[in-house]
Amino acid sequence: MKKYYDYQLADRNTFGISSKAAEFVEYYDVSELKDALRDMKRRKECGISGAACADSVAGKNMAGERFRLDYLFLGVGSNLLFTGDFAGTVFHGNIKDIEVVENNSDYSLVKVGAAVVWDDFVKWSLGNSLYGAENLSLIPGETGASAVQNIGAYGVEVSEIIEKVETVSVEDLSERVFTNSECRYSYRRSFFKENYNRYVVHHVVFRLNHRFVPVLKYKALQQEFSAVANSVSAGEIRDYVIEMRRNKLPDPSEIGNAGSFFMNPVVSREVFEALAAEYPSLPFYRQCEMFKIPAAWLIEQCGWKGRRVGNAGVCSRQPLVLVNYGGASADEIISLSERIVSDVREKFGIVLRPEVQFV
Ligand code: EPU
Repeated sequence: MKKYYDYQLADRNTFGISSKAAEFVEYYDVSELKDALRDMKRRKECGISGAACADSVAGKNMAGERFRLDYLFLGVGSNLLFTGDFAGTVFHGNIKDIEVVENNSDYSLVKVGAAVVWDDFVKWSLGNSLYGAENLSLIPGETGASAVQNIGAYGVEVSEIIEKVETVSVEDLSERVFTNSECRYSYRRSFFKENYNRYVVHHVVFRLNHRFVPVLKYKALQQEFSAVANSVSAGEIRDYVIEMRRNKLPDPSEIGNAGSFFMNPVVSREVFEALAAEYPSLPFYRQCEMFKIPAAWLIEQCGWKGRRVGNAGVCSRQPLVLVNYGGASADEIISLSERIVSDVREKFGIVLRPEVQFV
């Protein structure tokens, strides 16, 4: 285990926001994770948190509700926004094993350490002729976070290939394995997101198929490959997804961002029909009885696409992504996001919710 104090997190969040953690702890296996949690709890009971006597950090989410966190589990920080210094403990795992734990004629179960970079795992899976993850190529972040966020792109959500999720309870340090249904997955939601900070994911077990069946639900993939659906390879899907991502989404190593800043709103039929009557070109995807509307479209209609305010801005290729042009403070990004939310609410009566976690 390694511990650091007064630790700069600017290189540990893809927005590139400067923030210092009072304490930063790296653990390398489940036993170290439990030791680290035990130590944090002991100090908390003694009234000590973080490196010294730092109090919990106070933040504010987009709905203006106050919240307090005195510890945080960090992957590569590709889905969060530090709103100030972090007065507690930031934990970072280094569990990086990949192991096939079961094999049969149809599929393999693959157990993956939470700190394995997500796209390294996707690459590994194709290298081992195991299929199901290819549409999720190049999504930034680590494997543990993928199971918390229920990452999704190009017609696939990670929940479709998750068999189970292995965790440690922060409360009593017990180990708990969640089956897929216990994870309660839906669009960008999970039990872990709703019970934030209660369980630490240390491994995710995926069910990957031996036979490749292309998923061509996403329009651009359909257009590119539907004529060759019987012969397209998983590698070709991966390459095309990577090309689309590189064309549409800014690379966080070049320009700070956390991917989609907002979730796509899901509205009732009634709301959808009223809006569609007013805006006939309104794009949508059916979600059972509900309608998902692309936030990118709503934001563009409000004139925000490509706009810059100080050091923060709205991506010119994909307006769902807010960017840090360099040196932006969290306040600049929050204030930009609040202006967008307000304009979209005024024009369409829809309240955008952030997908990015504020800490
Ligand atoms: N659109 C516009 N203007 C634009 C871009 C898009 O109006 O400049 C509209 C179009 O109608 C377009 C629609 O938005 O058809 C959807 O755009 P896109 O296919 O790029 O997807 P998205 O709904 O904006 C979601 C995910 C992305 C994921 C893509 C592809 C969320 C919050 N975001 O974006 O995930 O890559 O689908 O599947 O669901 C991420 O989570 O960080 C992320 C990038």
